[in-house]
Amino acid sequence: MIRVAIVGTGTISHAHVRSYLQFPGRCKIVALVDIVPEKAQKMKEDYHLDCDVYDDHQKILPRRDIDLVDVCTPPYVHASISVNALKSGKNVVCEKPMAASLEECDAMLKARDESGMKLSIIAQNRFRKPIRDLKALLDSGLVGPVRHAQVNSFWWRGHCYYDLWWRGTWEKEGGGCTLNHAVHHIDMLGWMMGLPTQVVSMLANTAHDNAEIEDLSVSVLRYPGALAQVTASVVHHGEEQSVTFQCEKAKIAAPFSTYASLSKPNGFPERNEALEKEVAAYADSLPPLPYEMHPGQLDNVMTAIETDGPVAITGEDGRRTIELITAIYKAGITGAPVDLPLKKDDPFYTAQGLLERAPHFYEKNASVGELTGAITYGSDYKAK
Ligand SMILES: NC(=O)c1ccc[n+]([C@@H]2O[C@H](COP(=O)([O-])OP(=O)(O)OC[C@H]3O[C@@H](n4cnc5c(N)ncnc54)[C@H](O)[C@@H]3O)[C@@H](O)[C@H]2O)c1
Repeated sequence: MIRVAIVGTGTISHAHVRSYLQFPGRCKIVALVDIVPEKAQKMKEDYHLDCDVYDDHQKILPRRDIDLVDVCTPPYVHASISVNALKSGKNVVCEKPMAASLEECDAMLKARDESGMKLSIIAQNRFRKPIRDLKALLDSGLVGPVRHAQVNSFWWRGHCYYDLWWRGTWEKEGGGCTLNHAVHHIDMLGWMMGLPTQVVSMLANTAHDNAEIEDLSVSVLRYPGALAQVTASVVHHGEEQSVTFQCEKAKIAAPFSTYASLSKPNGFPERNEALEKEVAAYADSLPPLPYEMHPGQLDNVMTAIETDGPVAITGEDGRRTIELITAIYKAGITGAPVDLPLKKDDPFYTAQGLLERAPHFYEKNASVGELTGAITYGSDYKAK
């Protein structure tokens, strides 16, 4: 039985609680922690949990019976809580984004390695069939190498979204939509294509004059033999998120679509329907996932603990995403192309370095403790 402590009992923690409750024989929530302990207490009551409530994560560290600490706090404390938990001999699953800087990511990886515990960073969209299928299709070699990737991380958030106390500041949110929304799609891109060698980028705040951070960024990434475009946005009506790869033999995309071309003798395109059918049949042949989204990833983390196996989404994966986002910020802020990988003596390696250089597009002018209402998780990537 895996005994779980959840740190941070706000909006996203409900997805975690509901996931653990799907596995009653395998795990038990034994502790809830929040700096506003009334929220943890309410969660305990609402879900009828048999657990202890704490107001400080330090208080769970001496407990020897906790196997897994699940970090659901705002980004600026992901690293400190994760490092403390790992050092106290507990496995950690941490919400996205992994941390506010590469320096913090490296501290988490060091604590993981020194403790021998497991660390996984949430990227629940990898546990959606269309995204898993896209990765499998790329790996299959059916469509050949990627020549162009188009990542549309299109979201829409109203003005008041940034009134929540920790959002809208470089210090506590760590950045804007590039870090906190496009993190999902940048994880997918890194999973499928790895890190680019160079990035150029522009950042803007077009619609949220109550936030320091960007609500729109447009970046171009260079890979060996390919280019990628990443748009991160919270100003796109309809939130039509998509990832499209133009490969040597065909286009493939999530939501699923494919189009394959062959060359006529004059170089003009001729549709290759045979390959399109093969691509579609390959995707159809892939089995469904036993659990999707948060339940899928938390099932994987628990399996890794139970079998002493690897987690599917590692600390290195989380760090790679932060490295690309840091490069996007550096390129957008300096106005110059940025080469990857970033070095440890790079001024943008630390959260302080970013803070000293990041523009305040606007000043945060409101701060509320909580916003009420349900949240959504973006596209389901099903072909419409
Ligand atoms: N995976 C996803 O799709 C997804 C969706 C939404 C949010 N998130 C991420 O989840 C994290 C939390 O976001 P949220 O929307 O739930 O925020 P939230 O403000 O609703 O909840 C955060 C909770 O953490 C508590 N907290 C803050 N500092 C703490 C500390 N030091 N120790 C213990 N508790 C602390 C707050 O009191 C609050 O209850 C963020 O990193 C966010 O990016 C992920």
